Amino acid sequence: MAIYLDSADPEEIKRSAEWPFLAGVTCNPSLISRALKKNKVTQAEFFDHLEKIFALTHGRVFVQTNFWDESSMLNEADRLNSAFQDRLIIKVPFCEEGIKAVHVLKDRGMTVAMTAIFNPLQAYLSAMSGVDFVIPYCNRMGRVGQDGVEMVRQSVVLLMSQASAAQILVASIRTQTQILHLLDAGVNHLTLPFSLFEEIIAHPLSWEAAELFSHDLQVLVPREKAEKHHKKEETPPAFDTDFFDA
Ligand code: G3P
Repeated sequence: MAIYLDSADPEEIKRSAEWPFLAGVTCNPSLISRALKKNKVTQAEFFDHLEKIFALTHGRVFVQTNFWDESSMLNEADRLNSAFQDRLIIKVPFCEEGIKAVHVLKDRGMTVAMTAIFNPLQAYLSAMSGVDFVIPYCNRMGRVGQDGVEMVRQSVVLLMSQASAAQILVASIRTQTQILHLLDAGVNHLTLPFSLFEEIIAHPLSWEAAELFSHDLQVLVPREKAEKHHKKEETPPAFDTDFFDA
């Protein structure tokens, strides 16, 4: 089980780089284009931007090819692979040209993910094509009135029943409820936007509890005494029972 950050924003990648639960970053042309616009740089600096992403994270980076025909996809994948080989996973969008590209990419030794999956049978065909990862889009199904979690659940069951080696990494996740249901469905991996991590980490009740602990500590350990004791003993004052007897 691995969790990734779905982002191409250097600020978000830098802030999350030390989160121990994070296995790396997933990005796509839309996320990169958004990050380039935010940083006011041009499309020509696409590769520089990827270099920045690789430098900011210690983990794996899923990078999508920008083209829709097999030969351009292969050329770009080769270029990406020679630049970033160690931690790179090539994402290919689900389409006829993408499917054709998979076995060539695999023959060239690359780790490959098929992305933009909206149907369990697309997941099945991707797995049968030999990809390492299948990436279904959960939330986007909801936009067209369909149940994204159910689509993923059926994909998990189908790949398991076929003893497929392909792993499911779910993208396009927008709510905490979706995460819980997806984990319950037995997905292998998740990728989440920064805002969703923030929402989980900065829970208002956790903040409130931390503030209360800090307030109560001040009452238990008067500041002056704590500082004096800390200098003398060099041990944390909160754990010294003398304070409670005083
Ligand atoms: O990785 C795919 C993801 O970026 C798409 O997410 O929320 O725009 O559907 P969303």
